[in-house]
Amino acid sequence: QHEGKEKIKRAPVVSVMGHVDHGKTSLLDYIRRTKVAAGESGGITQHIGAYHVETDHGMVSFLDTPGHAAFTAMRARGAQCTDIVILVVAADDGVMPQTKEAVQHAKSAGVPLVVAINKMDKEGVDPDRIKNELAALDVIPEDWGGDVQFIPVSAHTGAGIDDLLEAILLQAEVLELEASPDASAKGVVVESSLERGRGSVATVLVQNGTLRQGDMVVAGSFFGKVRAMTDEAGKPVKDAGPSIPVEILGLNGTPDAGDEFYAVADEKKAKELAEFRQTREREHRLQRQQASKLE
Ligand code: GTP
Ligand code: NA
Ligand code: MG
Repeated sequence: QHEGKEKIKRAPVVSVMGHVDHGKTSLLDYIRRTKVAAGESGGITQHIGAYHVETDHGMVSFLDTPGHAAFTAMRARGAQCTDIVILVVAADDGVMPQTKEAVQHAKSAGVPLVVAINKMDKEGVDPDRIKNELAALDVIPEDWGGDVQFIPVSAHTGAGIDDLLEAILLQAEVLELEASPDASAKGVVVESSLERGRGSVATVLVQNGTLRQGDMVVAGSFFGKVRAMTDEAGKPVKDAGPSIPVEILGLNGTPDAGDEFYAVADEKKAKELAEFRQTREREHRLQRQQASKLE
């Protein structure tokens, strides 16, 4: 289907991982607050599960995955939607169990790391300590002859955040990320919920092609016509290309994080595919129930 479609460079999709309280949320919040252009409809009012920022060196998309839950759910579903992991390590605490876990996750998924040494605003912290501890896990800093960028930052003062974005874009260059904007849209569900007065609201990340208002889409075992789309600032948009996250209205249910979505030709096709997936999910559920009875 994608044959003959022109490929162009696409923005990196980034997830933030790290030990509890090392500053993942603070870092994402700082970037969102300072880098996402506020929309015409009053700026960023609600939390959405993904956003993108424009920098002097290019665009970066962030998947906001609080508590690893969504990331883990996506990985469990085999969704490969992260190009680069930012590993946040608090300079005053060092490498901790979930830091090691994150390194393992990234390695087994084959996703490169950029290390953010956070909380550099604290007294007496030494970034070399973090380099030492991560080097012991075979995450070797560039300045020690390895291939991992370590960027000292503070999610409180914002120091180093521009360097971090630059490091991400440098890593993205190496990966030569590409997509075909002309293809029909395909991507992954980041989160979804039912909202009073809006119905099903799903944050989706477009991975290939372009999603347009009015497109018929299948997402997990649900489907619907995209009635409206908004960006992370709540601003209505008509289309979203590769690596762009958007909120969509119009699905007839709430797909799970990590479910695939794609645009299809018409409602008949959408219904067929959604029903096929519902049947398959029912079968899987039954199989799991039977398996647990046997245990
Ligand atoms: P979990 O989601 O619970 O795993 O934590 P997290 O990694 O998202 O950390 P969070 O952003 O909640 O920050 C934890 C604590 O560290 C909060 O009290 C933050 O205010 C503080 N903190 C985060 N970043 C910095 C920083 O750069 N400097 C200082 N001094 N404190 C920070
Ligand atoms: Na926390
Ligand atoms: Mg958090």
